[in-house]
Amino acid sequence: MCGIVGYVGARNATEVLIEGLRMLEYRGYDSAGISVFNNNTVKTVKSLGKIDRLEQKLEEIGPLPATCGIGHTRWATHGMPSDINAHPHATEKVSVVHNGIIENYLEIRKELMDKGISFVSQTDTESLARLIDSLYDGDPVAAIRGALARVKGAYALGMVFYDKKDVIYAVRKDNPLIVAQSEDAGEFFIASDIPAVLAYTKRYYVLEEGEIAVLAKGGVTFIAPDGSLLQKPLLTAAFTLEQAQKGGYEHFMLKEIYEQPKALQNTITPRVKNGLPNFSSDNVPDELLKNAKAIHITACGTAMHAGLVGKSVMERLARVPVNVDIASEFRYRDPLVNEGDLVIIISQSGETADTLAALRLAKNKGAKTLAIVNVVGSSIAREADCVVYTHAGVEIAVASTKAYMVQLSVLHLLAVRLGLLKGMIDEAEGKRLVSLLGAVGETLEQMLSDTSLVQAAAQHIVQAPDIFFIGRGRDYYLSMEGALKLKEISYIHCEAYAAGELKHGTLSLITDGVPVIALAVEPKLFEKTISNIKEVKARGAYVVAVLSKGVMLDDQTADTSIHLPECDEFTQPFLTAAILQLLAYYTAKGKGLDIDKPRNLAKSVTVE
Ligand code: F6R
Repeated sequence: MCGIVGYVGARNATEVLIEGLRMLEYRGYDSAGISVFNNNTVKTVKSLGKIDRLEQKLEEIGPLPATCGIGHTRWATHGMPSDINAHPHATEKVSVVHNGIIENYLEIRKELMDKGISFVSQTDTESLARLIDSLYDGDPVAAIRGALARVKGAYALGMVFYDKKDVIYAVRKDNPLIVAQSEDAGEFFIASDIPAVLAYTKRYYVLEEGEIAVLAKGGVTFIAPDGSLLQKPLLTAAFTLEQAQKGGYEHFMLKEIYEQPKALQNTITPRVKNGLPNFSSDNVPDELLKNAKAIHITACGTAMHAGLVGKSVMERLARVPVNVDIASEFRYRDPLVNEGDLVIIISQSGETADTLAALRLAKNKGAKTLAIVNVVGSSIAREADCVVYTHAGVEIAVASTKAYMVQLSVLHLLAVRLGLLKGMIDEAEGKRLVSLLGAVGETLEQMLSDTSLVQAAAQHIVQAPDIFFIGRGRDYYLSMEGALKLKEISYIHCEAYAAGELKHGTLSLITDGVPVIALAVEPKLFEKTISNIKEVKARGAYVVAVLSKGVMLDDQTADTSIHLPECDEFTQPFLTAAILQLLAYYTAKGKGLDIDKPRNLAKSVTVE
């Protein structure tokens, strides 16, 4: 959700910034811009649209040699996408890039306008830029601190002050920002996320809440919120540039779907000891699971859908009730969470604003928190009582696939551990289930070697204006994810329904040719779901049935059938999920859409 980069060093800063922005484009892509020190002034160039448009504009302007600058790719919150509303926001003294929301920006804007300061954009960021400008009298840190003391909201900021040549200032609160340095400490970067700098270095510092970083050619200085100087640990990124590139695939989403077998292996293997789930290396004590008075799961979007599948498997194996909440609802409904409860937080990015707020709320209420997070060192990972990292690797496509898959795997392992601790399953059953999980990656890999049936099904639904997904039990939860994935990247209206619920209203929307993606995988609910499939078929629906291996439906029931490979009931969700991801991918591809960057969306939603 908005990407920030900054560079100071001997290279051409304009090129480094553009390359960095390209790697962050998944965070927002409605406009982009840069400010660079060039010939003793700061030049700002910005453009509506994706990075390519900005690059075109830069080419038209001609060479812009510089060795220091900041850049931004935007996901609009305040003010529509436009050249003017694009970042950086440049005043007479300072240029600012911002990720986040300044909540009291109107108040600040009015105050400054009353003093005769004029504004050009509709953004919240301009209020902050003009406030910093108004407080600046030669000491950037004092101006930044003075401005931030007035500001309410969330921010990661990169700034250049025109009279401080080749120096970048950065600060963050509730939004991510790293500071990176080259191996020989000759060049320094700021970035919203590590992929932006991977072409140059893997070494980085995590900026903590309220800390200010000052980057110059000679080095980086960190200033604590109380004004004292700080020494910070230099970390090394766990992934490479190649992992953050498409590697021959047409889209990141497809690459990431194909990376799932490996991601599953990387996530499951370290948590299996003597054939049983073991979270000791994640410092998750058994007591946390065993003694939890109640279990809650909270997350957003796809991560929340993983939580729903997790609920079903935990309740089944451990016979304990699990509540699942959308984080944006959880945080405002005064949830019944108490001391002694366990709240499981799921997030790929570890930065989602609502999920982070839900985590903080749960902690305030005295609950223990366990985060399932992909991005190492992210806010949620740092603030939770325990963290289980999913090892999906970097996920670039806005539509989450491999992160969801590995979230499912951790939830299944937790469910088995919980089942054992509660005495609801014995060790032999635990081992059987874990060995099934260990093998699911290989089965998935085989399944991914032939996707022709899914591609054919996608061709049948590509022109549809509306698509319905139905299923019961766990299949319903998977339907919700299938519908989200398809609508998100194909722009086709999709809805998921509990199959038994259709006739309570929605069946009126089923007419000739309306596609219904029917999941009839769960063995004990199969017969029931088939009855519902017949109901939609009788109303003219075009039915794509997703079925277990060997289950045959006649053409009075389904128009197309896609079969899972041979697998146990326990691991069916992993394979079903992959079929739904591919169906979404090939449908969007059939429509020729920008699959990795669907309109209006961005990865890592750091605003509420
Ligand atoms: C959909 C998708 C989103 C995210 C949601 C939460 O494909 O990716 O629904 O799952 O924004 O993001 P994280 O997991 O980063 O908290």
